[in-house]
Amino acid sequence: MVGLPARGKTYTARKIARYLQWSGYVAEVFNVGDHRRARIGARQTHEFFDPANAETSRVRHDLAMEVLDQMIGWLRAKGDVAIYDATNHTRERRDEIRRCCNAAGIDLFFIENVCSNEEMVEANIRATKIGSPDYADQDPETAAEDFRHRIKHYEKTYEQVGDDEGGYIRRVDAGARVEVNQLQGYLPSRLVSFLMNLHLSERLIWLTRHGESIYNISGRIGGDPDLAPRGERFARSLAAFLHQRTGHAHGIAVWTSSLKRTVRTAAAMERPSLPWRALDEIDAGICDGMTYDEIQTAMPDEYAARARDKFRYRYPRGESYQDVIQRLDPVILELERQQCSVLVIAHQAVLRALYAYFTELPAEDCPFLPVPMHSVIELRPHAYGCEQRRIPLAPLLDHRRGQASFSL
Ligand code: F6P
Repeated sequence: MVGLPARGKTYTARKIARYLQWSGYVAEVFNVGDHRRARIGARQTHEFFDPANAETSRVRHDLAMEVLDQMIGWLRAKGDVAIYDATNHTRERRDEIRRCCNAAGIDLFFIENVCSNEEMVEANIRATKIGSPDYADQDPETAAEDFRHRIKHYEKTYEQVGDDEGGYIRRVDAGARVEVNQLQGYLPSRLVSFLMNLHLSERLIWLTRHGESIYNISGRIGGDPDLAPRGERFARSLAAFLHQRTGHAHGIAVWTSSLKRTVRTAAAMERPSLPWRALDEIDAGICDGMTYDEIQTAMPDEYAARARDKFRYRYPRGESYQDVIQRLDPVILELERQQCSVLVIAHQAVLRALYAYFTELPAEDCPFLPVPMHSVIELRPHAYGCEQRRIPLAPLLDHRRGQASFSL
């Protein structure tokens, strides 16, 4: 990472790490600020960051190099992708990083966040800096003032990444413009798309399974069954929930899979909805349409293999959870891009994967995450995580009057 303080480097670094971990890479952020606080304590005032102060400059350089060493050791031992989260704001420092990476045979490119919009920087200082351990128990105004001084120190020596410094992605004003230099290969290109879609606007994401289907009643997996009567009632209940939550607000996206049970669940909403094949349920291959008992009896080896490693197990001529995550990649990019709230009506395995992405759970936990029927998971993504709550809808459904009410 490259950039002045309060330009969203840590946010960007963490988002990239999460995205890559979820996609199956061993990825980690190495944050120099955290290391500084752990080694010499928090609460350094702005003078500590003054480049004219030779003593503290040496300390900061040594701390940065310690983290770089740790990171290179980790990459050699077990990592695929490391994100080195520090200002790295001088060419001299970046040259030093490049020399170390080259010597260790590590490919490197820079992600630079540039922001000259003072309102954005100020908002970032207030949202993330004055609450940092560096300013614990301090008056917010004093803390913000000190942080602004800190930025000024870095501005004295800041040099943007030059075109002759190799590969870089530069995000200007939180993604309003993205510049790319000398980047090649699959992973860097994927990160360019990912970074083009990131934003910090407030919105909600609701995840819910379709209403109960006739296969759910008979315990069959997959297929393209119709909704059962209880599922139809859930569809109305969900429509009422969305109405109560958002009124007639336009600009709410409703996404379904291409399968009947999700499309029918969305129909009661009387809003346009977008069917995605990528949201279809895990493909159970030759087991599609069977019950778990039938699979165990007819194909005990398959049943046992799935029980041993449910995350990696791929149904014959079907999919594994790992496969599902791969095909959800465009859905994640679109969910990141949407500025409006989105309701996703899909299926158990698919929703487990989406939920794991937003709540930063290990991808390998996906197959076991609870995503009950007739219940909505409400996610509110923010800079460093995601608030969530679960709203069960079915118990509040009044069948007799065909009415639904919710305590929100
Ligand atoms: O049973 C409903 C269902 O959506 C099936 O169609 C699908 O195969 C299954 O859930 C996925 O859950 P699990 O991975 O736990 O079998």
